[in-house]
Amino acid sequence: MRSLLSVCDIEEEVETILNIASDFKAGKIEEKPLKDQKLAMIFQKSSTRTRVSFEVGMYELGGTALFLSTNDIQLGRGEPIKDTAKVLSRFVDVIMIRAIEHDDVIELERESDVPIINGLTNLEHPCQALADMLTVKEHKGGFDGKFVYVGDGNNVCNSLLLICGCLGMDMAIACPDEYRPNEEITKKAKEYAKANNSTITITSDIEEAVSGADVIYTDVWVSMGDEEESEKRRADFKDYQVNQNLIDMADDDVIFMHCLPAIRGEEVSAEVIDGPHSVVYDQAENRMHAQKAVLYYFLKELYK
Ligand code: CP
Ligand code: NVA
Repeated sequence: MRSLLSVCDIEEEVETILNIASDFKAGKIEEKPLKDQKLAMIFQKSSTRTRVSFEVGMYELGGTALFLSTNDIQLGRGEPIKDTAKVLSRFVDVIMIRAIEHDDVIELERESDVPIINGLTNLEHPCQALADMLTVKEHKGGFDGKFVYVGDGNNVCNSLLLICGCLGMDMAIACPDEYRPNEEITKKAKEYAKANNSTITITSDIEEAVSGADVIYTDVWVSMGDEEESEKRRADFKDYQVNQNLIDMADDDVIFMHCLPAIRGEEVSAEVIDGPHSVVYDQAENRMHAQKAVLYYFLKELYK
């Protein structure tokens, strides 16, 4: 039994999963390959894309998905993670969880008898990273270009860092020093990048990072759970907005990416997110194709 908690869990298999996702999108995989399988989706935080793409995706795979908000299940009232894991394992074939603490997902995985999929924690968002690289592959034809992330070195940034390393795509991150990505993840991503002949640069100099960019990616300055720091964060990130000036410094064919939800006028200007370089809705759609690939891979392909 295998789980997807971090991009590190699929270090060698990212391209395989992306190819399966492309095949799903092109309608090349048998219909309803996960017939009658059941997915439990635990949410400790809000979601639009993750919830709907997993739910619709599982339906299209022939299975069924249960939405379990922690406001409604006993986990939210203090039932141990162990008991939740053991009980759900008797009912369903796979569990997806969006959790506040990454360590809780590690515990869930330890206690579970079925695969666990990380649907976002404070540390990583691996399903997002897979959908994002599917989008890069579609728009750029591969991973030869320069991927630039601007803003908070958060969960989304951590997973992108790892996946760029795995795929050998050059990556530059522009962020204030206080908001650099997780150190351990950075170290791991640099090992992957070295093995795959690519580079990772982290700088507070936004112009240096963006020069020659093929992809510019950003995420919110205030993630779910960071609300108390909103004011400080808005001040700290004020020079890190992705706007037309920044797009003009990049390659002419640069694509703009954002995992969504976005705040126009904060991390990105309306002109950019609603403009011709933006591929944000392709990214959102690709969540479903990538997640179908993950579910198929972890529940079926690995056991063929
Ligand atoms: N990008 C993403 O995970 O969106 P949701 O929070 O809407 O699921
Ligand atoms: N970094 C954001 C991503 C939301 C999809 C958050 O954690 O809130």
